[in-house]
Amino acid sequence: MRDVTLVQIFDHPITQKYVKRSGMAHAIACAYHAFKLAKEYHVNPDLAAKAALLHDIGHYTWYRNGKWDYSLYKENDIHAIKGAERAHKLLIRLGEHPKAAKEISLAVLLHTDSYLPKGELHLKPLQKVVNLADEADEEPSGGHHYRIIDDDKARIMLAKLDQMIEDELNKEEQKGED
Ligand SMILES: [Fe+2]
Ligand SMILES: [Fe+2]
Repeated sequence: MRDVTLVQIFDHPITQKYVKRSGMAHAIACAYHAFKLAKEYHVNPDLAAKAALLHDIGHYTWYRNGKWDYSLYKENDIHAIKGAERAHKLLIRLGEHPKAAKEISLAVLLHTDSYLPKGELHLKPLQKVVNLADEADEEPSGGHHYRIIDDDKARIMLAKLDQMIEDELNKEEQKGED
């Protein structure tokens, strides 16, 4: 049994406000990519999908004269830092285990290195999965942030992914018992 589902995360007003700002369609596509990649990298699919769903929750709006200002964003953006904190607070409020909340929050923090000084980061498999899931759904000039999905469809897709995660975790558990 998981402590928190993706649908519960989706229904929370904090998710509605901040994940919608950076694109719910992108977040959900990334959660699906992360689920698939989790198998390949042998990481927990529940943590991977949650981190991918929340990876861009820290976005701030960088508008100048009503248009997104990419240079202003590039220079000043800290969305991964802000997102890690926001995701953590949200998960704890929903009843996530503190250990899981920390792992997810770290994967949000490290999903991009665009805000970090140059250097080599050695990502853990869960962090790598979330980074790859994000890249898998990227479109040129940030187009992925503007794709729209309606609430009913979003909820249905997340409920389906919740079920896929449950099935996967049950399979793993049974393997462990054999
Ligand atoms: Fe991001
Ligand atoms: Fe993203």
